[in-house]
Amino acid sequence: MSEFASVAKVHEIEEGKVKVIRVGEAPIGLTKIDGEFFAFADVCTHDDGPVAEGELDEYVIECPRHGAKFDIRTGKVKQLPAVVPIPIYAVKVEGDAVLVSKKPMSTT
Ligand code: FES
Repeated sequence: MSEFASVAKVHEIEEGKVKVIRVGEAPIGLTKIDGEFFAFADVCTHDDGPVAEGELDEYVIECPRHGAKFDIRTGKVKQLPAVVPIPIYAVKVEGDAVLVSKKPMSTT
């Protein structure tokens, strides 16, 4: 079972906005949509772009560097030039704390 790290307070994550947090060395984008939290690697699989700085449209985020799109629920590519999914992380809430898994979930 994956270990989790406490990364933010529930009220710090705004609906539809992405906050970049770190779990160890890994930069991770954390957001909330319809009250549900999602966490994904802030490193584009195309050329290491800062995905989390991109435009979020419902569950799809666009890498600001060359426009690749990913579904933040699954990590799957929705638009080229990326072809490899971005890692996604499990998120859970305990009291007022948002916790993110220290290791990514499988994106296969
Ligand atoms: S680095 Fe993200 S699309 Fe190129």
